[in-house]
Amino acid sequence: MNKIRAAITGVGGYVPDYVLTNKELETMVETTDEWITSRTGVKERRILKGDNLGVSVMGIEAMKDMLAKTKIDPKEIDCIIFATITPDLTFPATANIVATAVGATNAFSYDLGAACSGFIYGLSTGASFIQSGMYKKVVVIGGDKMSAILDYTDRTTCIIFGDGAGCVLLEPTTEDVGVIDSVLKSDGSGEAYLHMKAGGSRMRPTHETVDKRLHYVYQEGSAVFKFAVTNMADVAAQIATRNNLNSETITWLVPHQANKRIIDATASRVGINEDKVMMNIERYGNTTGGTIPLLLWDYEKQLKKGDNLIIAAFGGGFTWGAIYVKWAYNGNHNRH
Ligand code: UT7
Repeated sequence: MNKIRAAITGVGGYVPDYVLTNKELETMVETTDEWITSRTGVKERRILKGDNLGVSVMGIEAMKDMLAKTKIDPKEIDCIIFATITPDLTFPATANIVATAVGATNAFSYDLGAACSGFIYGLSTGASFIQSGMYKKVVVIGGDKMSAILDYTDRTTCIIFGDGAGCVLLEPTTEDVGVIDSVLKSDGSGEAYLHMKAGGSRMRPTHETVDKRLHYVYQEGSAVFKFAVTNMADVAAQIATRNNLNSETITWLVPHQANKRIIDATASRVGINEDKVMMNIERYGNTTGGTIPLLLWDYEKQLKKGDNLIIAAFGGGFTWGAIYVKWAYNGNHNRH
């Protein structure tokens, strides 16, 4: 009998309506459209406006989009993994909130915190559940409401991030498609360069932590940049080499969207031309857990069965990794 693999059989996505342009950021911090565009590739990003709206709002919309396209019954879903570092609440898990909202009443659900690599960690974990034969339908959501944890007086950090969420449905297949291989890495020494100081169990919220702006993303951008360029390119090259893939046989590079210069460096290391690199950083910025599923959502119509995708990410932790996926269907899937 052929090996069971986990195929991506559906994609959903959601970005909020509000567009925060570089021009508007010029009115908020000392920056220019020219600096942001040339140093990062971001032109605009989406922001979830409104009181008491958490990342679940975007996860729910992304799942509804996927459910409408695949026409599966949400009651058939076994498991939902939500990769996010901006959960609605510390507990319960945002995945629980999403599962109930979409009617996935038979699913168990949990959040996964691996920052910008959260979605690929979730994809690998979800695929293992399918490959083991334990579950038949697993949904992996990646999304963040970065605007909730950004300091809009810190011009080096607030300019790259945005809000958004996407998801994929994983199902078993015995065909030679699906999640084929993955390399996942982490290094806790990265905490020094990218973290949020307060609000966790180490430093509970007080008036002082708020006054000192400790509930926002702290990032030493140029240090993170150096680690990202080397490590994301290394794992992308490693997964290509060990699966005998080269610039001819790779159909798409699907890189985390943190900075266009990091994306370009990864593409050049794997020898991939820009026309084979999925990119939407100019419209959405860095949505952390959302970048990879939002790329798949944007490019789904162009994808064909058998396409070789190398997905790569790098982020807080540090966490990083790469996944080789052979795409399982043609275009905007609608199987019923
Ligand atoms: O998502 C996962 C993890 N995150 C990343 O992968 C992000 C990696 N890092 C980056 O993308 C980049 O480091 C940033 C976009 C965050 C910053 O770009 P950079 O080219 O590394 O800038 P820098 O922090 O080294 O600053 C260079 C100069 C400084 O001025 P001086 O000291 O040379 O006079 C900054 O003050 O650019 C200045 N600067 C700005 N100028 C205008 C920094 N931010 C801005 C800004 N507008 N927004």
